Amino acid sequence: MKYLPELFERNRRWAAEQLAGDPSFFERLCEIQRPKYFWIGCADSRVPANQIIGMQPGEVFVHRNVANRYGDDDVNARAVLEYAVEALGVEHIIVCGHYGCGGVRAALEGGVQGAVAQWIAPIAKLAEARRAELEACADPAKRWAKLCELNVADVLSRVAGSRAVRQAWDAGRPLALHGWIYDLHDGLLRDLNMTVGANISLP
Ligand code: CO
Repeated sequence: MKYLPELFERNRRWAAEQLAGDPSFFERLCEIQRPKYFWIGCADSRVPANQIIGMQPGEVFVHRNVANRYGDDDVNARAVLEYAVEALGVEHIIVCGHYGCGGVRAALEGGVQGAVAQWIAPIAKLAEARRAELEACADPAKRWAKLCELNVADVLSRVAGSRAVRQAWDAGRPLALHGWIYDLHDGLLRDLNMTVGANISLP
């Protein structure tokens, strides 16, 4: 392999390990994908969806972008959401933010330009709308963390208002939406207690 041979080597090793554990691993995966979970997370390399929830290929459908956003005006996100809900029939949508999110910090502090600035504009708007709450956090690190949490809530309400989710709920399909946040410091997820759902038994 001419380019990035180390990555191909790692890939061969990984594939061999999967087969060693389960000789029909790839055969089964090829048949059909029917994940129960749809994850909307940040593109941050430190927050790999499958790994942090201990899921194998085939178990979670994933959409990641800067600062785990969703908007009806984002055709990419809308297409992925529609596919997850309508074609795959996922039962849980997890919006997962993370503390220490650079996209969220840029929305608070500015200093970015171009497409990134355009992308995070809705978070900057959110920060403006929730300014009193944010300013109540004297410590800038706490303010940043607070906005990471508020961003999850904002995205969750946008997903809840999407056509795909409203139609699923109207049709009585089981579908729950969850807002979580991941802490880079301990590798643990926290449930932000904003689950909304229909026709699904929630603890
Ligand atoms: Co991030």
